[in-house]
Amino acid sequence: MRTSLLVCVTLLHSAFGFLDKQPSYISTCQIKNNPNFSNCSTHSVQGLFDEIPKGIPEIGLEPLDPLKVDKIKILQGGGGAVTVNASLTNVTVIGFGHTKVVHNTVDNKTYDFHTKLHLDRLRIDGNYELLGRILVIPLRGKGACWFDAKDLEIYAKSDVKLIKHDGFHFFNISAVHVKFSIGGLKLHMGNLFDGIKTLEDSTNAYLNANWRPVAESLNPILSKTIEDIMIDILKKVFDNTPADFFLSDLDKI
Ligand SMILES: *[C@@H]1O[C@H](CO)[C@@H](O)[C@H](O)[C@H]1NC(C)=O
Ligand SMILES: *[C@@H]1O[C@H](CO)[C@@H](O)[C@H](O)[C@H]1NC(C)=O
Ligand SMILES: *[C@@H]1O[C@H](CO)[C@@H](O)[C@H](O)[C@H]1NC(C)=O
Ligand SMILES: *[C@@H]1O[C@H](CO)[C@@H](O)[C@H](O)[C@H]1NC(C)=O
Ligand SMILES: *[C@@H]1O[C@H](CO)[C@@H](O)[C@H](O)[C@H]1NC(C)=O
Ligand SMILES: *[C@@H]1O[C@H](CO)[C@@H](O)[C@H](O)[C@H]1NC(C)=O
Repeated sequence: MRTSLLVCVTLLHSAFGFLDKQPSYISTCQIKNNPNFSNCSTHSVQGLFDEIPKGIPEIGLEPLDPLKVDKIKILQGGGGAVTVNASLTNVTVIGFGHTKVVHNTVDNKTYDFHTKLHLDRLRIDGNYELLGRILVIPLRGKGACWFDAKDLEIYAKSDVKLIKHDGFHFFNISAVHVKFSIGGLKLHMGNLFDGIKTLEDSTNAYLNANWRPVAESLNPILSKTIEDIMIDILKKVFDNTPADFFLSDLDKI
C-alpha cells in the first residue's frame, strides 16, 4: 500500500545574530561521566521550554503561545484510513506555554536529543479547506474549525550534529522525529458540505463520538505537522544558542 504525505508549514520569522552570553534561563550540565546527566538536562530543557513560548527577541523568536501559523497544507493519497487534501490557514495554536519536559537526554556520542513532553491541553483554531475521507466518511468543506486535544504525550528524537563556528559549539538539528498520543479530542468543522446543517451537525457529532479512531487515523498527519513546527522552532533556538551553554564539558575549540 503506497501512501504519500506532504505537509507544509509556514511560520513567520526573521533572521538575527546568535547569543554570545549565557542567558539565565539555561542551566549547564556535565554530559560525560555524570550519572545525574538526564536529570540535570531535563531541568535545563524545562527552563528553555518555560522561556521559548514568551519569545526570545535576541534571536528573533516570536512568542509561541499563542503560536501563529500562516498555513498548514496537507496532501495525502493512498489506501490508509485517511485520504485528504486539506489546508489550514490563519492558524492559532494555544498550549505550548505549559509544556512539561518529562524527560530529556542527549546521546554522549552522537549528540542526538531524546525528549519526552507532556501538554495538558492543545487547542488549534483556523480556517480549513478539506476534500477527502476520514475513517469511512467522505468530507468536503471550507470554513472555520477548531481542535481541542488533552493530555498529549510527545516523544521527539532530534537528529543532531555538533558543529563549531565563531568560537562556540552549536547543535545543528537536521530532523525531528515525533511520536505522540492524546488522551482526548474535541473538534468542530463549520460549513461542512456547503453548510447543509443537518449533515454538518451529524458529521461533527460522529467525529467527536469516535475521536479515538479519528485521532489515530490523523496521527501521521499530526505527527508530521508537529515535526515541521518543532524543527522550525528548535533550529531557530539552537542555531542561535551555543551548545556550550548547555554542556560544560565539550572539547576545547
Ligand atoms: C555514555 O552513555 C552511555 C549510555 O547512556 C553510558 O553507559 C556511558 O557511561 C556514557 N559515557 C560517558 C563517558 O559518560
Ligand atoms: C534527580 O534530581 C532530583 C532532585 O531534583 C533527585 O531527588 C533525584 O534523586 C535525582 N535522580 C537521580 C537519578 O539522580
Ligand atoms: C541531579 O540533578 C538535579 C536537577 O538538576 C539536581 O537538583 C540534583 O541536585 C542533582 N543530584 C545530584 C546528586 O547531583
Ligand atoms: C484569523 O484569526 C483571528 C483569530 O485568531 C480572527 O480574529 C480573524 O478574523 C481571522 N481572519 C480571517 C481572515 O479569518
Ligand atoms: C488531492 O490532490 C492531488 C493533487 O493535487 C490530486 O491528484 C488528488 O486527486 C486529490 N485527492 C483528493 C481526495 O481530492
Ligand atoms: C547543518 O546541517 C545541514 C545538513 O543537515 C547543512 O546543510 C548545514 O550547512 C549545517 N549548518 C552549518 C552551520 O554547518
